[in-house]
Amino acid sequence: YKAKMIVDKDFIISPIDERLYGSFIEHLGRAVYGGIYEPGHPEADEQGFRKDVLSLIQALRVPIIRYPGGNFVSGYDWKDGIGPKDQRPSRLELAWRTIEPNQFGLNEFVDWSRAAGTDVMWAINLGTHGVEEARNVVEYANHPSGSYWSDLRVSHGYKNPHAIKTWCLGNEMDGPWQIGHKTAAEYGRIATESAKVMKWVDPTIELVACGSSNREMITYPEWESTVLDHTYEHVEFLSLHSYYGNHQNDTATFLGRSLEMEDFIRSVTATCDYIKAKKRSKKTMYLSFDEWNVWFHSNEADKKIEPWQIAPPQLEDIYTMEDALVVGCLLIALLKHSDRVKMACLAQLVNVIAPIMTENGGQAWAQTIYYPYMHASVYGRGNALVPIVQSPKYDTKDITDIPYLESIAVYNEESGEVTIFAVNRDLTNPLPLEVDLRSFGACKVLEHIVLENENLKAVNTASGPNRVKPHTLGNAKSDGSTISANLSKASWNVIRLS
Ligand code: AHR
Repeated sequence: YKAKMIVDKDFIISPIDERLYGSFIEHLGRAVYGGIYEPGHPEADEQGFRKDVLSLIQALRVPIIRYPGGNFVSGYDWKDGIGPKDQRPSRLELAWRTIEPNQFGLNEFVDWSRAAGTDVMWAINLGTHGVEEARNVVEYANHPSGSYWSDLRVSHGYKNPHAIKTWCLGNEMDGPWQIGHKTAAEYGRIATESAKVMKWVDPTIELVACGSSNREMITYPEWESTVLDHTYEHVEFLSLHSYYGNHQNDTATFLGRSLEMEDFIRSVTATCDYIKAKKRSKKTMYLSFDEWNVWFHSNEADKKIEPWQIAPPQLEDIYTMEDALVVGCLLIALLKHSDRVKMACLAQLVNVIAPIMTENGGQAWAQTIYYPYMHASVYGRGNALVPIVQSPKYDTKDITDIPYLESIAVYNEESGEVTIFAVNRDLTNPLPLEVDLRSFGACKVLEHIVLENENLKAVNTASGPNRVKPHTLGNAKSDGSTISANLSKASWNVIRLS
């Protein structure tokens, strides 16, 4: 009973696009108000940005953040969030049934993202808006000056264009819950026409078309095929969304869900390539997995929320140790497909199904899932290497052939470091691992970080923010170019080598 892995610097899946470690902030619950923005908080700066939250985000090195939604965006008028704050309207927000006060909008988000050290992925409204607003918002954000919308931005105090490069053409337009839900053909047309004018305003931008909201949608994968038939030559990315839960308290299956994420990626890739062939196109479509996470803990509580409040607690999942393992497996799944998945967004970032939690007026802390996300983002830069893995496997009622070892290595040529990310899915036994690093020669173990806890349901809270935290007492050791380690049961491991 043992797992083996071969890591070779010449077996490259792909250089990893750093945007694989993106995240997402929606005007939903306390993500913005009480999360990243809370004027009057002791940690707030002069713009109302919470510095305690900013520093937790900076440590994650988040390269890009999708904003302002989500379902929210399909009813959002971006113009409500610009100009003097005392003149901005409060609106009924129909996606989440709240009041949106519009005290934080496009310009504030650009300022905030600069402070957080991240780029903006702006989603446009293709639910209630269309081609006209699509061009206007690009003109406002990205055109230098000398036109109505760009001069308006300048008059709002932003002389330089925001240079937002990445834009999503709507959100989950296949979902009947979406404001302005569309058929694939309707969406394909409006996305194409919006894409054209947006790129006429700013030819440097990149666009993401909406794929299916999840692979259980009845219209999947016909949706992808039809949408790409319309949009193929106008966009660079197709989106995927997927959330995972453990409603049945079946942890063995829950830990295997990343295999389904991989299947989803493979079939969307195949659909993209089918349209490429059909169109005799030379262009390869890339994937933006721009919503992924564990989401289920808050489902029941959310049914009881009174409508029309400002920033009530919504989707506040409190994550367990086992959720962190699932997030670790999902990160490895994304890395395994980094040749096609160039962007991905952990949904979301603060308070709403998020690695970071805050109290209004109080402290901010890291949830369990913060740690695998941080490790992947900080150490997972460079080339993703083909994981040649032999591992014992297990079956559950829903999924078969789940390897106990989920693993991948990343080689950073610049720093000369190799990092092995590994989850031991075995809930009762440690897993001996042997890694053959043949092409690297003798390697030294810099650090073996482990996230584990005797209680798989352990969580971090305001009163106990450090219950689940990584330690560096992992036992990886090197013998020339062979690394051996005993991976604790149910653990997330980061073995750093040079
Ligand atoms: O991230 C929460 C919600 O999940 C988003 O608003 C929506 O796009 C998805 O259904």
